Amino acid sequence: MTMLHLNAFLMGVGHHEAAWRLPESDAFAQTDVEHFKRLARIAERGKLDSLFLADSPVLWNSIGRRPAGTLEPTVLLTALAGATEHIGLIATASTTYNEPFNLARRFASLDHISGGRAGWNIVTTAGVEAARNFNLDELPAHRDRYERAAEFIDVSLKLWDSWDDAAPLGDKAGGVWGDDDLLHPPHHKGRYFRVAGPLNVPRSPQGYPLLVQAGSSQDGKELAARYAEAVFTAQQTLAEAQAFYVDLKRRAAALGRDPDTIKILPGIVPAIGATEAEARALEEELDRLIKPEYARQQLATTLRVAPEDLHLDRELPADLPSEDEIQGAKSRYTLIVTLARRERLTVRQLIARLGGGRGHRTFAGTPEQVADAIEEWYRSGAADGFNIMPPVLPSGLEAFVDHVVPILRRRGLFRTEYTGSTLRDHYGLARPANQFARVPVAAAH
Ligand SMILES: Cc1cc2nc3c(=O)[nH]c(=O)nc-3n(C[C@H](O)[C@H](O)[C@H](O)COP(=O)(O)O)c2cc1C
Repeated sequence: MTMLHLNAFLMGVGHHEAAWRLPESDAFAQTDVEHFKRLARIAERGKLDSLFLADSPVLWNSIGRRPAGTLEPTVLLTALAGATEHIGLIATASTTYNEPFNLARRFASLDHISGGRAGWNIVTTAGVEAARNFNLDELPAHRDRYERAAEFIDVSLKLWDSWDDAAPLGDKAGGVWGDDDLLHPPHHKGRYFRVAGPLNVPRSPQGYPLLVQAGSSQDGKELAARYAEAVFTAQQTLAEAQAFYVDLKRRAAALGRDPDTIKILPGIVPAIGATEAEARALEEELDRLIKPEYARQQLATTLRVAPEDLHLDRELPADLPSEDEIQGAKSRYTLIVTLARRERLTVRQLIARLGGGRGHRTFAGTPEQVADAIEEWYRSGAADGFNIMPPVLPSGLEAFVDHVVPILRRRGLFRTEYTGSTLRDHYGLARPANQFARVPVAAAH
Protein backbone atom coordinates (compact mmCIF):
# COMPACT_ATOMS: atom_id res chain seq x y z
CA MET A 1 0.00 0.00 0.00
CA THR A 2 1.22 3.50 -0.69
CA MET A 3 1.88 5.67 2.34
CA LEU A 4 0.45 9.05 3.06
CA HIS A 5 2.65 12.14 3.05
CA LEU A 6 2.93 14.57 5.91
CA ASN A 7 4.23 18.10 5.70
CA ALA A 8 4.73 20.32 8.75
CA PHE A 9 3.60 23.86 7.96
CA LEU A 10 5.58 25.99 10.43
CA MET A 11 4.41 29.44 11.40
CA GLY A 12 5.86 31.34 14.37
CA VAL A 13 4.43 29.99 17.61
CA GLY A 14 1.47 28.44 15.87
CA HIS A 15 -1.22 28.86 13.25
CA HIS A 16 -3.81 30.13 15.67
CA GLU A 17 -3.61 33.90 15.58
CA ALA A 18 -3.74 34.13 19.40
CA ALA A 19 -1.17 31.37 20.10
CA TRP A 20 1.44 33.95 21.04
CA ARG A 21 -0.70 35.09 23.98
CA LEU A 22 -0.55 31.73 25.78
CA PRO A 23 1.66 31.84 28.89
CA GLU A 24 4.10 29.28 27.49
CA SER A 25 4.60 31.01 24.12
CA ASP A 26 7.63 33.13 23.30
CA ALA A 27 6.05 36.21 21.72
CA PHE A 28 9.20 36.93 19.70
CA ALA A 29 10.01 33.43 18.45
CA GLN A 30 9.35 34.26 14.79
CA THR A 31 12.85 35.70 14.43
CA ASP A 32 14.58 33.08 16.63
CA VAL A 33 16.46 30.53 14.55
CA GLU A 34 16.76 28.20 17.57
CA HIS A 35 12.95 28.02 17.76
CA PHE A 36 12.79 26.89 14.13
CA LYS A 37 15.65 24.40 14.55
CA ARG A 38 13.76 22.85 17.42
CA LEU A 39 10.59 22.58 15.30
CA ALA A 40 12.52 21.09 12.39
CA ARG A 41 14.08 18.45 14.63
CA ILE A 42 10.69 17.51 16.10
CA ALA A 43 9.26 17.10 12.58
CA GLU A 44 12.28 15.02 11.55
CA ARG A 45 11.94 12.86 14.66
CA GLY A 46 8.46 12.01 13.35
CA LYS A 47 9.99 11.19 9.91
CA LEU A 48 7.71 13.73 8.25
CA ASP A 49 8.27 14.23 4.52
CA SER A 50 8.93 17.93 4.70
CA LEU A 51 8.49 21.22 6.47
CA PHE A 52 7.20 24.35 4.86
CA LEU A 53 7.38 28.11 5.32
CA ALA A 54 4.79 30.49 3.83
CA ASP A 55 5.74 33.97 2.69
CA SER A 56 4.59 37.24 1.22
CA PRO A 57 6.95 40.14 0.51
CA VAL A 58 4.85 42.56 2.56
CA LEU A 59 4.03 43.39 6.17
CA TRP A 60 0.32 42.60 6.47
CA ASN A 61 -2.02 44.74 8.50
CA SER A 62 -1.45 45.93 12.03
CA ILE A 63 1.49 44.67 14.06
CA GLY A 64 -0.80 44.95 17.07
CA ARG A 65 -2.63 41.75 16.24
CA ARG A 66 -0.03 39.00 16.26
CA PRO A 67 3.73 38.53 15.89
CA ALA A 68 4.66 40.13 12.60
CA GLY A 69 7.65 40.26 10.34
CA THR A 70 9.11 36.96 9.19
CA LEU A 71 12.53 35.73 8.22
CA GLU A 72 13.06 35.20 4.50
CA PRO A 73 12.27 31.48 3.95
CA THR A 74 15.20 30.36 1.77
CA VAL A 75 17.62 32.00 4.22
CA LEU A 76 15.93 30.37 7.20
CA LEU A 77 15.81 26.97 5.45
CA THR A 78 19.54 27.18 4.81
CA ALA A 79 20.01 27.33 8.57
CA LEU A 80 17.56 24.45 9.04
CA ALA A 81 19.40 22.39 6.43
CA GLY A 82 22.40 22.44 8.77
CA ALA A 83 20.28 21.43 11.76
CA THR A 84 18.63 18.38 10.09
CA GLU A 85 19.60 15.46 7.84
CA HIS A 86 16.56 14.04 6.12
CA ILE A 87 13.50 16.24 6.16
CA GLY A 88 12.49 18.16 3.02
CA LEU A 89 12.63 21.97 3.18
CA ILE A 90 9.99 23.89 1.22
CA ALA A 91 10.06 27.68 0.88
CA THR A 92 7.41 29.93 -0.61
CA ALA A 93 8.56 32.44 -3.21
CA SER A 94 6.50 34.72 -5.42
CA THR A 95 6.65 34.65 -9.22
CA THR A 96 5.15 38.13 -9.32
CA TYR A 97 7.88 39.85 -7.31
CA ASN A 98 11.06 37.97 -8.21
CA GLU A 99 13.23 37.47 -11.28
CA PRO A 100 13.79 33.89 -12.47
CA PHE A 101 17.57 34.05 -12.49
CA ASN A 102 17.85 35.16 -8.86
CA LEU A 103 15.26 32.73 -7.64
CA ALA A 104 16.50 29.74 -9.66
CA ARG A 105 19.96 30.41 -8.26
CA ARG A 106 18.69 30.60 -4.67
CA PHE A 107 16.79 27.31 -4.94
CA ALA A 108 19.64 25.53 -6.73
CA SER A 109 21.89 26.73 -3.90
CA LEU A 110 19.47 25.45 -1.23
CA ASP A 111 19.25 22.10 -3.01
CA HIS A 112 23.05 21.77 -2.99
CA ILE A 113 23.39 22.96 0.61
CA SER A 114 20.69 20.57 1.87
CA GLY A 115 21.83 17.55 -0.16
CA GLY A 116 18.70 17.49 -2.35
CA ARG A 117 16.00 18.50 0.11
CA ALA A 118 14.74 21.78 -1.39
CA GLY A 119 11.18 22.54 -2.51
CA TRP A 120 9.64 25.69 -3.96
CA ASN A 121 6.06 26.65 -3.13
CA ILE A 122 5.14 28.69 -6.19
CA VAL A 123 2.70 31.52 -5.47
CA THR A 124 1.49 34.53 -7.42
CA THR A 125 0.92 36.71 -4.28
CA ALA A 126 -2.42 38.39 -3.67
CA GLY A 127 -2.88 41.92 -2.28
CA VAL A 128 -2.12 45.40 -3.55
CA GLU A 129 0.06 46.05 -0.47
CA ALA A 130 2.73 43.72 -1.87
CA ALA A 131 2.51 45.32 -5.33
CA ARG A 132 3.32 48.68 -3.76
CA ASN A 133 6.64 47.32 -2.53
CA PHE A 134 7.64 46.59 -6.13
CA ASN A 135 7.18 49.77 -8.14
CA LEU A 136 3.48 49.15 -8.80
CA ASP A 137 0.38 51.08 -7.74
CA GLU A 138 -2.07 48.29 -8.41
CA LEU A 139 -2.12 44.52 -8.08
CA PRO A 140 -1.46 43.01 -11.52
CA ALA A 141 -4.59 41.19 -12.79
CA HIS A 142 -5.06 37.60 -11.60
CA ARG A 143 -4.81 36.20 -15.15
CA ASP A 144 -1.59 38.13 -15.84
CA ARG A 145 -0.01 36.98 -12.59
CA TYR A 146 -0.65 33.36 -13.54
CA GLU A 147 0.61 33.88 -17.08
CA ARG A 148 3.80 35.39 -15.69
CA ALA A 149 4.05 32.46 -13.23
CA ALA A 150 3.98 29.92 -16.08
CA GLU A 151 6.71 31.74 -18.00
CA PHE A 152 8.68 32.19 -14.77
CA ILE A 153 8.64 28.44 -14.15
CA ASP A 154 9.58 27.67 -17.77
CA VAL A 155 12.58 29.98 -17.53
CA SER A 156 13.58 28.54 -14.15
CA LEU A 157 13.42 25.00 -15.52
CA LYS A 158 15.61 26.02 -18.45
CA LEU A 159 18.09 27.60 -16.07
CA TRP A 160 18.23 24.57 -13.78
CA ASP A 161 18.72 22.38 -16.85
CA SER A 162 21.29 24.72 -18.36
CA TRP A 163 24.01 22.50 -16.93
CA ASP A 164 24.19 18.87 -17.93
CA ASP A 165 24.69 16.69 -14.89
CA ALA A 166 27.96 15.67 -16.52
CA ALA A 167 29.21 19.19 -17.28
CA PRO A 168 31.58 19.48 -14.29
CA LEU A 169 34.54 17.20 -15.03
CA GLY A 170 37.17 18.05 -12.42
CA ASP A 171 39.78 16.64 -14.80
CA LYS A 172 42.93 17.63 -12.96
CA ALA A 173 45.30 15.67 -15.18
CA GLY A 174 43.89 17.17 -18.37
CA GLY A 175 43.44 20.62 -16.80
CA VAL A 176 39.79 20.83 -17.87
CA TRP A 177 37.42 21.66 -15.03
CA GLY A 178 34.19 21.44 -16.99
CA ASP A 179 32.82 20.79 -20.49
CA ASP A 180 31.49 23.98 -22.11
CA ASP A 181 29.65 21.86 -24.68
CA LEU A 182 27.50 20.51 -21.86
CA LEU A 183 26.13 23.94 -20.98
CA HIS A 184 22.78 24.87 -22.52
CA PRO A 185 22.15 28.60 -22.19
CA PRO A 186 18.40 29.14 -22.66
CA HIS A 187 18.54 32.49 -24.53
CA HIS A 188 14.94 32.91 -23.45
CA LYS A 189 12.88 35.77 -24.91
CA GLY A 190 9.24 35.81 -23.82
CA ARG A 191 6.45 38.15 -22.85
CA TYR A 192 7.73 38.76 -19.33
CA PHE A 193 11.39 37.73 -19.30
CA ARG A 194 14.55 37.87 -21.35
CA VAL A 195 17.21 35.61 -19.86
CA ALA A 196 20.40 34.52 -21.61
CA GLY A 197 21.80 32.06 -19.02
CA PRO A 198 23.25 29.62 -18.27
CA LEU A 199 22.78 29.56 -14.51
CA ASN A 200 25.92 30.10 -12.43
CA VAL A 201 25.22 27.05 -10.26
CA PRO A 202 25.73 23.45 -11.46
CA ARG A 203 22.67 21.16 -11.66
CA SER A 204 21.72 20.28 -8.09
CA PRO A 205 21.20 16.88 -6.41
CA GLN A 206 17.49 16.78 -7.26
CA GLY A 207 18.01 18.43 -10.66
CA TYR A 208 15.78 21.19 -9.39
CA PRO A 209 13.64 21.75 -6.28
CA LEU A 210 10.38 19.92 -5.82
CA LEU A 211 7.73 22.16 -7.42
CA VAL A 212 4.83 22.86 -5.08
CA GLN A 213 1.78 25.01 -5.83
CA ALA A 214 -0.76 26.58 -3.50
CA GLY A 215 -3.58 28.52 -5.15
CA SER A 216 -6.84 26.73 -5.94
CA SER A 217 -8.57 29.09 -8.42
CA GLN A 218 -9.15 27.84 -11.98
CA ASP A 219 -5.88 29.43 -13.13
CA GLY A 220 -4.14 28.07 -10.05
CA LYS A 221 -5.32 24.54 -10.79
CA GLU A 222 -4.20 24.82 -14.41
CA LEU A 223 -0.73 25.89 -13.28
CA ALA A 224 -0.60 23.05 -10.77
CA ALA A 225 -1.72 20.48 -13.35
CA ARG A 226 1.13 21.51 -15.65
CA TYR A 227 4.00 21.88 -13.22
CA ALA A 228 3.29 20.94 -9.62
CA GLU A 229 4.56 17.79 -7.97
CA ALA A 230 2.80 18.63 -4.70
CA VAL A 231 -0.19 20.89 -4.07
CA PHE A 232 -1.18 22.58 -0.83
CA THR A 233 -4.85 23.38 -0.58
CA ALA A 234 -7.48 24.49 1.94
CA GLN A 235 -10.63 22.32 1.90
CA GLN A 236 -13.38 22.42 4.50
CA THR A 237 -15.46 19.33 3.74
CA LEU A 238 -14.77 15.82 2.50
CA ALA A 239 -16.99 16.36 -0.56
CA GLU A 240 -15.15 19.55 -1.55
CA ALA A 241 -11.78 17.92 -1.01
CA GLN A 242 -12.77 14.91 -3.14
CA ALA A 243 -14.02 17.17 -5.93
CA PHE A 244 -10.79 19.18 -5.88
CA TYR A 245 -8.70 15.99 -5.86
CA VAL A 246 -10.52 14.44 -8.82
CA ASP A 247 -10.47 17.71 -10.76
CA LEU A 248 -6.73 18.28 -10.34
CA LYS A 249 -5.76 14.68 -11.11
CA ARG A 250 -7.93 14.81 -14.24
CA ARG A 251 -6.36 18.04 -15.39
CA ALA A 252 -2.89 16.55 -14.92
CA ALA A 253 -3.88 13.40 -16.83
CA ALA A 254 -5.35 15.53 -19.65
CA LEU A 255 -1.92 17.12 -20.04
CA GLY A 256 -0.32 13.70 -20.40
CA ARG A 257 0.97 13.43 -16.87
CA ASP A 258 0.73 10.41 -14.59
CA PRO A 259 -1.74 11.64 -11.92
CA ASP A 260 0.28 9.85 -9.23
CA THR A 261 3.11 12.31 -9.80
CA ILE A 262 1.08 15.17 -8.33
CA LYS A 263 0.52 14.81 -4.57
CA ILE A 264 -2.40 16.68 -3.07
CA LEU A 265 -2.14 17.83 0.56
CA PRO A 266 -5.07 19.65 2.19
CA GLY A 267 -4.34 21.55 5.39
CA ILE A 268 -5.54 20.43 8.81
CA VAL A 269 -5.26 22.43 12.02
CA PRO A 270 -5.47 19.81 14.80
CA ALA A 271 -6.00 20.91 18.41
CA ILE A 272 -4.93 17.71 20.17
CA GLY A 273 -5.84 16.72 23.74
CA ALA A 274 -5.62 13.56 25.84
CA THR A 275 -9.42 13.70 25.88
CA GLU A 276 -11.83 15.38 23.52
CA ALA A 277 -12.79 17.78 26.33
CA GLU A 278 -9.15 18.76 26.78
CA ALA A 279 -8.75 19.42 23.05
CA ARG A 280 -11.89 21.54 23.00
CA ALA A 281 -10.73 23.47 26.04
CA LEU A 282 -7.48 24.34 24.23
CA GLU A 283 -9.43 25.48 21.19
CA GLU A 284 -11.80 27.56 23.32
CA GLU A 285 -8.95 29.12 25.27
CA LEU A 286 -7.30 30.17 22.01
CA ASP A 287 -10.53 31.53 20.54
CA ARG A 288 -11.15 33.58 23.71
CA LEU A 289 -7.78 35.26 23.19
CA ILE A 290 -8.66 36.55 19.69
CA LYS A 291 -9.22 40.30 19.54
CA PRO A 292 -12.10 40.48 17.07
CA GLU A 293 -11.55 44.13 16.06
CA TYR A 294 -8.28 43.31 14.24
CA ALA A 295 -9.73 40.21 12.65
CA ARG A 296 -12.83 42.09 11.52
CA GLN A 297 -10.67 44.62 9.74
CA GLN A 298 -8.82 41.88 7.88
CA LEU A 299 -12.02 40.03 7.00
CA ALA A 300 -13.46 43.27 5.61
CA THR A 301 -10.38 43.69 3.38
CA THR A 302 -10.67 40.11 2.13
CA LEU A 303 -14.40 40.47 1.43
CA ARG A 304 -13.96 43.97 -0.02
CA VAL A 305 -16.55 45.55 2.27
CA ALA A 306 -16.31 48.35 4.88
CA PRO A 307 -15.52 47.03 8.41
CA GLU A 308 -18.68 48.79 9.70
CA ASP A 309 -20.73 46.54 7.42
CA LEU A 310 -19.58 43.48 9.34
CA HIS A 311 -21.61 43.18 12.55
CA LEU A 312 -19.98 40.78 14.97
CA ASP A 313 -23.22 39.08 15.95
CA ARG A 314 -24.81 38.90 12.52
CA GLU A 315 -24.16 36.84 9.42
CA LEU A 316 -22.21 38.24 6.48
CA PRO A 317 -23.98 40.85 4.34
CA ALA A 318 -26.01 39.33 1.48
CA ASP A 319 -24.46 41.38 -1.35
CA LEU A 320 -20.81 40.32 -1.53
CA PRO A 321 -18.69 40.40 -4.72
CA SER A 322 -18.55 37.26 -6.87
CA GLU A 323 -15.25 35.35 -7.27
CA ASP A 324 -14.91 36.82 -10.78
CA GLU A 325 -14.60 40.30 -9.30
CA ILE A 326 -11.79 39.28 -6.94
CA GLN A 327 -8.28 39.90 -8.23
CA GLY A 328 -6.49 38.70 -5.08
CA ALA A 329 -6.76 35.21 -3.61
CA LYS A 330 -9.82 33.90 -5.44
CA SER A 331 -10.07 30.41 -4.01
CA ARG A 332 -9.64 31.53 -0.39
CA TYR A 333 -12.31 34.19 -0.88
CA THR A 334 -14.81 31.63 -2.12
CA LEU A 335 -13.91 29.20 0.67
CA ILE A 336 -14.57 31.82 3.36
CA VAL A 337 -17.91 32.97 1.94
CA THR A 338 -19.10 29.38 1.34
CA LEU A 339 -18.13 28.33 4.87
CA ALA A 340 -19.93 31.27 6.46
CA ARG A 341 -23.09 30.78 4.41
CA ARG A 342 -23.22 26.99 4.73
CA GLU A 343 -22.88 27.01 8.52
CA ARG A 344 -24.78 30.30 8.95
CA LEU A 345 -21.92 31.69 11.02
CA THR A 346 -22.02 35.10 12.60
CA VAL A 347 -19.03 37.32 11.88
CA ARG A 348 -17.73 36.56 15.39
CA GLN A 349 -17.98 32.79 14.79
CA LEU A 350 -16.40 33.13 11.37
CA ILE A 351 -13.53 35.11 12.86
CA ALA A 352 -12.94 32.31 15.39
CA ARG A 353 -12.91 29.69 12.60
CA LEU A 354 -10.51 31.73 10.50
CA GLY A 355 -8.39 32.69 13.52
CA GLY A 356 -7.63 29.01 14.00
CA GLY A 357 -6.30 28.34 10.54
CA ARG A 358 -7.24 31.08 8.05
CA GLY A 359 -9.75 28.84 6.28
CA HIS A 360 -8.02 25.51 6.71
CA ARG A 361 -9.95 22.72 8.35
CA THR A 362 -9.76 23.08 12.12
CA PHE A 363 -10.24 20.01 14.26
CA ALA A 364 -10.23 19.36 18.01
CA GLY A 365 -9.85 15.82 19.27
CA THR A 366 -7.79 13.02 20.73
CA PRO A 367 -4.81 11.58 18.79
CA GLU A 368 -7.08 8.68 17.80
CA GLN A 369 -9.71 11.05 16.43
CA VAL A 370 -7.12 13.08 14.51
CA ALA A 371 -5.73 9.85 13.02
CA ASP A 372 -9.30 8.79 12.09
CA ALA A 373 -9.93 12.12 10.34
CA ILE A 374 -6.69 11.78 8.39
CA GLU A 375 -7.36 8.17 7.46
CA GLU A 376 -10.91 8.89 6.34
CA TRP A 377 -9.87 11.59 3.87
CA TYR A 378 -6.87 9.60 2.69
CA ARG A 379 -8.88 6.43 2.03
CA SER A 380 -11.77 8.22 0.37
CA GLY A 381 -9.85 9.85 -2.44
CA ALA A 382 -9.60 13.32 -0.95
CA ALA A 383 -5.87 13.52 -0.23
CA ASP A 384 -2.45 11.96 -0.81
CA GLY A 385 -1.32 13.43 2.48
CA PHE A 386 -1.75 16.42 4.75
CA ASN A 387 -0.32 19.77 5.54
CA ILE A 388 -0.16 19.68 9.33
CA MET A 389 -0.72 23.16 10.78
CA PRO A 390 -0.41 22.99 14.59
CA PRO A 391 -2.40 25.75 16.30
CA VAL A 392 0.38 26.12 18.90
CA LEU A 393 4.10 25.53 18.35
CA PRO A 394 6.11 23.66 19.44
CA SER A 395 3.55 21.83 21.66
CA GLY A 396 1.09 21.05 18.84
CA LEU A 397 3.79 19.57 16.61
CA GLU A 398 5.14 17.51 19.52
CA ALA A 399 1.66 16.19 20.23
CA PHE A 400 1.20 15.26 16.58
CA VAL A 401 4.57 13.56 16.20
CA ASP A 402 4.49 11.73 19.53
CA HIS A 403 0.83 10.71 19.62
CA VAL A 404 -0.77 10.81 16.16
CA VAL A 405 2.14 9.57 14.02
CA PRO A 406 2.52 6.30 16.02
CA ILE A 407 -1.18 5.53 15.43
CA LEU A 408 -0.81 6.19 11.70
CA ARG A 409 2.20 3.85 11.71
CA ARG A 410 0.33 1.09 13.52
CA ARG A 411 -2.33 1.36 10.84
CA GLY A 412 0.31 0.96 8.13
CA LEU A 413 -0.32 4.43 6.76
CA PHE A 414 2.98 6.16 7.51
CA ARG A 415 6.68 5.37 7.27
CA THR A 416 8.75 4.27 10.25
CA GLU A 417 12.06 5.31 8.64
CA TYR A 418 13.20 7.49 5.79
CA THR A 419 14.07 5.23 2.86
CA GLY A 420 15.64 7.83 0.57
CA SER A 421 17.72 10.94 0.97
CA THR A 422 16.04 13.61 -1.17
CA LEU A 423 12.71 15.39 -0.82
CA ARG A 424 11.49 13.73 -4.05
CA ASP A 425 12.45 10.34 -2.57
CA HIS A 426 10.16 11.04 0.39
CA TYR A 427 7.27 11.89 -1.94
CA GLY A 428 7.97 8.81 -4.08
CA LEU A 429 8.90 10.90 -7.12
CA ALA A 430 11.70 10.35 -9.61
CA ARG A 431 14.58 12.76 -10.18
CA PRO A 432 13.61 14.78 -13.26
CA ALA A 433 15.61 14.25 -16.44
CA ASN A 434 17.39 17.24 -17.92
CA GLN A 435 15.32 18.56 -20.86
CA PHE A 436 18.55 19.36 -22.75
CA ALA A 437 20.57 16.31 -21.69
CA ARG A 438 23.15 15.05 -24.16
CA VAL A 439 24.78 12.68 -21.71
CA PRO A 440 22.58 10.01 -20.08
CA VAL A 441 22.25 10.55 -16.32
CA ALA A 442 23.75 7.13 -15.55
CA ALA A 443 26.98 8.28 -17.18
CA ALA A 444 27.05 11.41 -15.08
CA HIS A 445 29.06 11.46 -11.91
C1 LIG B 1 -1.24 25.82 2.51
C2 LIG B 1 -1.21 27.05 1.67
C3 LIG B 1 -0.17 27.92 1.82
C4 LIG B 1 -0.09 29.08 1.07
N1 LIG B 1 0.96 29.91 1.26
C5 LIG B 1 1.00 31.06 0.57
C6 LIG B 1 2.06 31.96 0.78
O1 LIG B 1 2.94 31.69 1.59
N2 LIG B 1 2.09 33.10 0.06
C7 LIG B 1 1.11 33.40 -0.86
O2 LIG B 1 1.19 34.46 -1.48
N3 LIG B 1 0.10 32.56 -1.08
C8 LIG B 1 0.01 31.40 -0.39
N4 LIG B 1 -1.01 30.53 -0.61
C9 LIG B 1 -1.96 30.80 -1.69
C10 LIG B 1 -3.01 31.80 -1.29
O3 LIG B 1 -3.79 31.26 -0.25
C11 LIG B 1 -3.89 32.13 -2.45
O4 LIG B 1 -4.70 31.03 -2.69
C12 LIG B 1 -3.10 32.49 -3.68
O5 LIG B 1 -2.24 33.51 -3.41
C13 LIG B 1 -3.98 32.95 -4.81
O6 LIG B 1 -4.34 31.86 -5.49
P1 LIG B 1 -5.74 31.74 -6.20
O7 LIG B 1 -6.21 33.10 -6.60
O8 LIG B 1 -5.38 30.84 -7.33
O9 LIG B 1 -6.68 31.12 -5.24
C14 LIG B 1 -1.09 29.37 0.14
C15 LIG B 1 -2.16 28.48 -0.02
C16 LIG B 1 -2.22 27.33 0.74
C17 LIG B 1 -3.35 26.41 0.53
